[in-house]
Amino acid sequence: MAHYKIAWLPGDGIGNDVMQAARIVLDALQLDAEYPHGDIGWEFWKREGDPLPERTLELLRNTDCALFGAITSMPKEEAAAELVPELQGKGLVYSSPIVRLRQEFNLHTNLRPCRAFEGNPLNLRDDVDLVVFRENTEGLYVGIEFNPLPQEVRDVLVKHHPKMKRFADLPLEDIALSTRIITRGGARNIVTQAFEFAKKHGYKTVTVIEKPNVLRETSGLMVRTAREVAQGYPGIELWETNIDAMCMWLVKNPQQYGVLVASNMFGDVISDLCAQLVGGLGFAASGNIGDEYAVFEPTHGSAPKYAGQNKVNPMAMLLTTKLMLDWLGEADRAQRLESAIAAVIRGREALTYDMGGNATTTEVAEAVVRHL
Ligand code: NAI
Ligand code: MG
Repeated sequence: MAHYKIAWLPGDGIGNDVMQAARIVLDALQLDAEYPHGDIGWEFWKREGDPLPERTLELLRNTDCALFGAITSMPKEEAAAELVPELQGKGLVYSSPIVRLRQEFNLHTNLRPCRAFEGNPLNLRDDVDLVVFRENTEGLYVGIEFNPLPQEVRDVLVKHHPKMKRFADLPLEDIALSTRIITRGGARNIVTQAFEFAKKHGYKTVTVIEKPNVLRETSGLMVRTAREVAQGYPGIELWETNIDAMCMWLVKNPQQYGVLVASNMFGDVISDLCAQLVGGLGFAASGNIGDEYAVFEPTHGSAPKYAGQNKVNPMAMLLTTKLMLDWLGEADRAQRLESAIAAVIRGREALTYDMGGNATTTEVAEAVVRHL
């Protein structure tokens, strides 16, 4: 039997609470693993000027995958103000550790299953079963942004695009520019993964969600690539929708859709919408998956007002743990965990505050363990 090394990254706030719940369940499943702790989050930003220290990256390089809780983050000025005095004024700029992990380990695929568990009082409907594939390293979140816009960059854009004329005379500091990069390889990869998943799990449709009528080149490349990939999957239909319309359809008829695929920002938007259809942040699990490494995390943040209170819903974290087990090839344990989660929800055995009850985080984990 395999012995795993799983980097344990609780991070900030309720990240710690929900990771303890995950550990209760992993121990009950008797997974043969060790869980070396990694430093990540706000504390390390404040003290060391880096929320993702090099020693943590080194730890990750020596593990099979990572399980991550949540982190606190803030916009650049607020973040700089929180640094210890010795680090103030050194020009340190906060950057999101999770975005860095995605880029550093090329975790190109963000997987977010959103399934309604029967009996969850927070479901919009009980027949929703959506799986979002979001491209995770390109698109509008590549982080290539300018403000002020360098003169040279403007000159090149003016030269190459007639629509830049409108911005040719504005002061450079009054222009902020963001870059949306879609590559053929990135598009092909994410769409292929969506189709492979649909094939393996019996979904009949893959819906690509973009805006090619406006974003002709970037969304256009995603959609054209999706059509090519779809040719290889005759039993699965490719549906194409615009991001704005899709937000309406998902509220109106979510049960009609199966696997969804989108570039980075649209995928981000749609995954939060899908999560809310099936219970919200307390149920939203995700995996950041690359060819060789993966980082699994619930979608929620550090919810500072609940930190350390053993109060928040650990289901998102437990469903995240299930995704990790699947990725490790532990299909049997993954299945047992999901069934146990489903049984606890169906029987309303332990409801945290968001579900209208007063069970603690630990009590939910223990209820799941009883069904394993
Ligand atoms: P949040 O997700 O931390 O919490 C928002 C609200 O959702 C909470 O106040 C709580 O009412 C509810 N909630 C969240 N998780 C829950 C759970 N497991 N069970 C029950 N209720 C839950 O988002 P917020 O308040 O906008 O951000 C707090 C901090 O977290 C910020 O510093 C933010 O930057 C960071 N953040 C980090 C993320 C990550 O680590 N991936 C993602 C989102 C926010
Ligand atoms: Mg998001």
